[in-house]
Amino acid sequence: DASDIEKGTYPHYMLKEIDEQPLVMRKIIQAYQNEMGDLTIDHGVLNAVLAADRIYIVACGTSYHAGLVGKEFLEKTAKIPTEVHVASEFVYNMPLLSENPLFIFISQSGETADSRAVLVRVKELGHPALTLTNVAGSTLSREANHTLLLHAGPEIAVASTKAYTAQIAVLSILSEVAGKVKGFDMEFDLVQELGIVATAMEALTDDKEAFEQIARDFLSTTRNAFFIGRSLDYHVVQEAALKLKEISYIQAEGFAGGELKHGTIALIEDGTPVLALATQENVNLSIRGNVKEVAARGAHTCTIAMKGLEEEGDSYVIPHVHELLSPLVSVVPTQLISYYASLHRGCDVDKPRNLAKSVTVE
Ligand code: AGP
Repeated sequence: DASDIEKGTYPHYMLKEIDEQPLVMRKIIQAYQNEMGDLTIDHGVLNAVLAADRIYIVACGTSYHAGLVGKEFLEKTAKIPTEVHVASEFVYNMPLLSENPLFIFISQSGETADSRAVLVRVKELGHPALTLTNVAGSTLSREANHTLLLHAGPEIAVASTKAYTAQIAVLSILSEVAGKVKGFDMEFDLVQELGIVATAMEALTDDKEAFEQIARDFLSTTRNAFFIGRSLDYHVVQEAALKLKEISYIQAEGFAGGELKHGTIALIEDGTPVLALATQENVNLSIRGNVKEVAARGAHTCTIAMKGLEEEGDSYVIPHVHELLSPLVSVVPTQLISYYASLHRGCDVDKPRNLAKSVTVE
């Protein structure tokens, strides 16, 4: 409806779309529930997933980052080997394909030319394809054998926010349903956990001043910034860095904490902002170690930790959610921090320079 594409009282679409994420989570739960309240996936899609001996996720930009998280679900809950590829590289560096591959294209717009080029090739090879998109009837959804919708509502800001979390949520549902059909025990109730995620997102979007302050303290004048994380947090920091660069023009990179000592730590100077995510218990000590290492070299560090793993001196503590679903929640502070960094620096938040909402040329 019309209110979906109007800013209303919001100064920018991006802020509106960040705020819509709890609602989108709830819409997705509803859209993928049957009358009994159980999660369900279209049979054709499910059969395609179950028939695959390996899944190849193909996407660009933020959608690629959602794919990195999706791989974790597909491997951990459905136990299907999964690879994630940047679409523009896939055509030249095509991996050796398994006997029964399934291709999953992730695309908010469903119109991205780089992804479409791979889809065309995949169809020539005769392999099945599933598109996850926010736009029903988009090119990638029409041309694939199967489609799943994201139900995020129109995303207008160039910087993708609610589509990313919607992509991850739909991939978690797909993996959970496939895992159940394969007879695996699910260690948690996904409907309930996604509900907890929605509530946690709300707590974060209700606390905007905190993130505005972090943006002010860490990013108002800097030329560069680093994000670090391990395990699932590593996927999220890559997305965080992309978001910050595209709308604030700060040179930002997301690194695996363990890779710092292999080169990147050379870039740390007095005052270099380093933002760390700490949401995963098994790597908490290691990422804390990385924060100390960069702080000892003068970095201005900001740690965002999940409740239960927090330490004194952390900049922000996000509500506790299931560890596997943490990207849905930990990304929200990074979206808001990027938003305010862009705003403070006087950039065009919704229409950053040199970028288009959907990239329909190769
Ligand atoms: C996200 O903030 C970017 N603007 C961009 O990376 C985007 O995710 C990418 O172009 C892919 O678009 P799609 O999901 O519509 O295919």
